Amino acid sequence: MKILIIGATGTLGRQVVRRAIDEGHEVRCLVRSRKRAAFLKEWGAELAGGDLCYPETVAEALVGVDAVIDAATARATDSLSIRQVDWEGKVALIQAVQAANISRFIFFSILNADKYPDVPLMEIKRCTELFLAESGINYTVLQLAGFMQGLIGQYGIPVLEGQPVWVTGESSPIAYMDTQDIAKFAIRALEIPETEKRTFPVVGTRAWSAEEIIAVCERLSRKTARVTRMPMGLLRFMRRTLRFFQWGWNVSDRLAFTEVLASGKPLTAPMEETYQVFGFEIGDTTTLESYLEEYFSRIMKKLKEIDYEKNKAKEKKKNKRSPFKKANSQ
Ligand SMILES: NC(=O)c1ccc[n+]([C@@H]2O[C@H](COP(=O)([O-])OP(=O)(O)OC[C@H]3O[C@@H](n4cnc5c(N)ncnc54)[C@H](OP(=O)(O)O)[C@@H]3O)[C@@H](O)[C@H]2O)c1
Repeated sequence: MKILIIGATGTLGRQVVRRAIDEGHEVRCLVRSRKRAAFLKEWGAELAGGDLCYPETVAEALVGVDAVIDAATARATDSLSIRQVDWEGKVALIQAVQAANISRFIFFSILNADKYPDVPLMEIKRCTELFLAESGINYTVLQLAGFMQGLIGQYGIPVLEGQPVWVTGESSPIAYMDTQDIAKFAIRALEIPETEKRTFPVVGTRAWSAEEIIAVCERLSRKTARVTRMPMGLLRFMRRTLRFFQWGWNVSDRLAFTEVLASGKPLTAPMEETYQVFGFEIGDTTTLESYLEEYFSRIMKKLKEIDYEKNKAKEKKKNKRSPFKKANSQ
């Protein structure tokens, strides 16, 4: 199957590309920067220059394609807003897919998007799901919770380096999933007709609170975390202030997401039906503990190697100096 992957340089998108190539699919990636996407070409993907906000570039990239997997989203650091990329860009993409008569479309949404109308990204995801359902396209929506990859920067590195670990006053447990596992579901959806025109939760084996994740990091790193609590009132104030300035819109829209994290409602869903339809077993899914164990054992090994090399270098220096010492003492 020839698949166009959008957002292929992203955390999830790159795993989708890897999985699609490993399973023998022909992959084309719509990319904004060929330089940033050079690694995808090395993996064997074809690159098509383009941008969701320029629909003519998308139409060109769709030529000869059997399926589209959309893993794009506005970057927090970008000048483009969530509205421009995740709504206007996606509406144009879905219309282009319709016009090109492409038989399959996979979209990544967020779990419980319908429960947070005041959170811009959640509302946009809900509207995109509706727009897809009315489009007549053979879509599959995968509703995600959070990525394990994000936990390294948020908890793993700060705990290791003795830096503050920021958590919101109240925190909802989240069923994080490894993006490699999510990619498996996305590619499998293309092979299973029962997934057409349907929406599935795709989340990790259980929901974890910030405190529980910090405890795992502390145990694995043998360090104590410096936890700093961010009051929700302050985050809400920052969000309202940033909305006054256009440059602050992206940050403000992202801060709105803290409402989801502070709702206290776990971001998780039953996965029995998903496993049954996709033909996977829960035992195949990476657990948060095993993901972090793998990360910390790699880092601890590297730190030991660095320590060993440092000690060896020190020893060498000492031995070099010793003849002078001996000469002086004689
Ligand atoms: N991260 C999470 O925890 C999470 C949770 C639930 C759902 N999701 C969903 O999962 C999907 C993937 O998220 P992610 O975190 O992997 O994203 P990410 O790492 O932030 O990557 C975003 C991708 O979108 C591309 N992109 C941005 N603007 C674009 C534009 N105008 N035209 C074309 N491509 C554009 C980026 O390309 P460049 O390299 O050119 O910037 C990049 O490849 C999204 O739909 C997201 O909403 C994520």
